[in-house]
Amino acid sequence: MDQFDLIVIGAGPGGYVAAIRAAQLGLKTVCVDAFLDKDGKPALGGTCLNIGCIPSKALLDSSKQFHNLTHTFADHGISALQPTIDIKTMIGRKDKIVKQFTGGISSLFKTNKVTPLAGFGRLLADRTVQITAHDGSKSCISGTSIILATGSVPIELPFAKFDNRLILDNQGALDLTEVPKRLGVIGAGVIGLELGSVWKRLGSEVTIFEALPEFLGAVDADIAKAAQREFKKQGLDIRLGTRCTAVELKDNQVQLSFDSGKGLQTMVFDKLLVSVGRRAATAGCLAPDSGVRTDERGRYIVDEHNWTGVEGVWAVGDCVRGAMLAHKASEEGIAVAEIIAGKPGHVNHDTIPWVIYTEPEISWVGKSEQQLKAEGIPYRTGSFPFAAIGRAVAMNETAGMVKVIAHAQTDRLLGVHMVGACVSELIAEAVVAMEFHGSAEDLARICHAHPTLSEAVHEAALAVDKRAIHKAN
Ligand code: NAI
Repeated sequence: MDQFDLIVIGAGPGGYVAAIRAAQLGLKTVCVDAFLDKDGKPALGGTCLNIGCIPSKALLDSSKQFHNLTHTFADHGISALQPTIDIKTMIGRKDKIVKQFTGGISSLFKTNKVTPLAGFGRLLADRTVQITAHDGSKSCISGTSIILATGSVPIELPFAKFDNRLILDNQGALDLTEVPKRLGVIGAGVIGLELGSVWKRLGSEVTIFEALPEFLGAVDADIAKAAQREFKKQGLDIRLGTRCTAVELKDNQVQLSFDSGKGLQTMVFDKLLVSVGRRAATAGCLAPDSGVRTDERGRYIVDEHNWTGVEGVWAVGDCVRGAMLAHKASEEGIAVAEIIAGKPGHVNHDTIPWVIYTEPEISWVGKSEQQLKAEGIPYRTGSFPFAAIGRAVAMNETAGMVKVIAHAQTDRLLGVHMVGACVSELIAEAVVAMEFHGSAEDLARICHAHPTLSEAVHEAALAVDKRAIHKAN
């Protein structure tokens, strides 16, 4: 049986990054992954690169270009006669980007001498991993250390099983061949809003059904309210407090039954996207005597260092507690690889940024105002609208704001929340400030380039102390 220093199961951001870092540190590393691309070929990168973060951003960008051409270019005096979009070309561009990045990981594995293995990995006792290859053949390898990085899969509703023809998961919604006239979406979460926005901008009538009464409950309420207002303006029909109960497929259409408190109603769609959350992909990954335990949500149980409690066995990413985010997974992967190599790896879960790539984008780090209220922590807030930022006005991107929350006594930053253009990039400044235990005063005293969108962060920090310059305090 082949023996390795480290076996990583899963080549998504948690797994492939862990494998590369371990190899950099001199460990003989193998990375096992079962994913097959559209052509039936093994592909590295997991959900993020193949059917998640990267392809969805490619389509968000394509649809944004089309939306600007048809809606905002006229404001700049630019006109185009009868703009059209060729969905096949758009999807082809997305597939090319995906291939570029998954191929990039193969090259990085080669450069760093990580051995990729195609197949499904299952952890047995004594740090042995059984690999079932795509032709069904089984083999075993053994490792001094193991990292489980098996990711997550979409949650299916019992009455709306995915067929990726009419009822779509995130993968199906990234591969439509034409713009559905009517797109229904169950779940106004991250995926529902991002992919709903893509198809809305390309011309679909999009209706999003959300079971909870409030919009984006995990997001700071001021930011969620501002975002909701913008989405409404764009024509996204978001129905809160609405339970979907049944689906009937007829004549290539989906009839959805739902109850919003006014009795049962139905609507007919050409496609239905179900995005009601994801669950850890741990099924079949553990033999009964592997020693690794799972919690009530099927996630591997780990401690604060991502150790499973079984000697030499670790787990990172979506398959363990914490946010289901690619960058959280890769940070955990790096930390565990370093710990295995005898270095002090660590992840600060309190400063992991969140981004929702809608238009406007939403981003945040740290706690929301409602969380701080519930925890009884005294705070002060300052906010600043992009409408008063010169660069934002010049860019025609005036929607949204930045909100800074600091401790009422110490002024330490507790949370920074944003909705607006490019806030996926602007949040990095807040993450750095919080990582270094910065205060609102620190942000306020940092010189920000003019004219840039980052001035909104500066002004919001000044506003915490009621001394913003370009608005009334
Ligand atoms: P989500 O947890 O963000 O949202 C699911 C929504 O569906 C919730 O608001 C929930 O209340 C609602 N829901 C659940 N059951 C329902 C029902 N029967 N009827 C109506 N509404 C229902 O889950 P989503 O959007 O599927 O994304 C999964 C995870 O993937 C996210 O939590 C995130 O961690 C990750 N992700 C992150 C991205 C990013 O960082 N930009 C992009 C895409 C995914």
